[in-house]
Amino acid sequence: MVAVHRVVFSARAPKLAQRILEFEFTREHVLKTLHAEPRTELDRAFQTIVRNRVNRGGILAPGAGLVKHGEGGRGLAQRWYPETLAQRIMVLSAHQDRVRVTQGDALNILEQTPFSPGTVIFVDPPYTAGAKSAGKRLYTHHALDHERLFRACAGLRVPWLMTHEHDPNVMALAWQNGLSWRSVKMVSGHNVTARELVVGRDFRWAEGLGSLLLPGTVTQPSLFGPDNNLEQVETTAEYPPQ
Ligand SMILES: C[S@@+](CC[C@H](N)C(=O)[O-])C[C@H]1O[C@@H](n2cnc3c(N)ncnc32)[C@H](O)[C@@H]1O
Repeated sequence: MVAVHRVVFSARAPKLAQRILEFEFTREHVLKTLHAEPRTELDRAFQTIVRNRVNRGGILAPGAGLVKHGEGGRGLAQRWYPETLAQRIMVLSAHQDRVRVTQGDALNILEQTPFSPGTVIFVDPPYTAGAKSAGKRLYTHHALDHERLFRACAGLRVPWLMTHEHDPNVMALAWQNGLSWRSVKMVSGHNVTARELVVGRDFRWAEGLGSLLLPGTVTQPSLFGPDNNLEQVETTAEYPPQ
């Protein structure tokens, strides 16, 4: 995945967009792309985007199956929107002077970086802290010390926000570290409604933001397309349960 981020925020972004626009989307070409050994980072970025688009649920971890039945009989191509993808890549790429992509252990980065005032941090860990966590299936790198992550976040001196799974273990971690959470309804690409948590130090900042924390539809921006909708925020859960 880091190949995609690196290429998008580099001078190679137009080449990636061009390759997406010129790709002749047939089952044969898709399989050839997925099985090819990438020779360059651009190859790898393109392969990752194709894989994300044709694997069920966009799952990149090994073993994920291919999309079978698409909307409107589009089959494998049900989530292949080349113009949208190319356009988003170019929109993001316009900010390349302001973005530095690094690859490393986020726990070390959170604990050791002297973040300057004005920094705002969004933390999006794999959902692997709960009893029925989905993250183990979704991500190759799913093992994470969630206790350490919560401690690191609680110690940050700059504003931050984390999304996490709607699970008592996560609420307990937040509670133990003096943090708050809000419950958020989200609708996945398969129109499955699930709840997740937004965790933070406090949510006073959101009091005036009716559209975020009151019923209404919030669309989650995504590089990949119109399949991630954050719907509406519900209530504040209590922990420990009364
Ligand atoms: C929910 S996904 C984040 C998706 C990301 N926000 C995006 O839009 O592409 C969680 C990611 O955390 C990564 N991860 C797991 N442990 C990590 C660690 N210690 N440091 C950095 N990343 C880690 C996983 O590989 C996985 O890709």
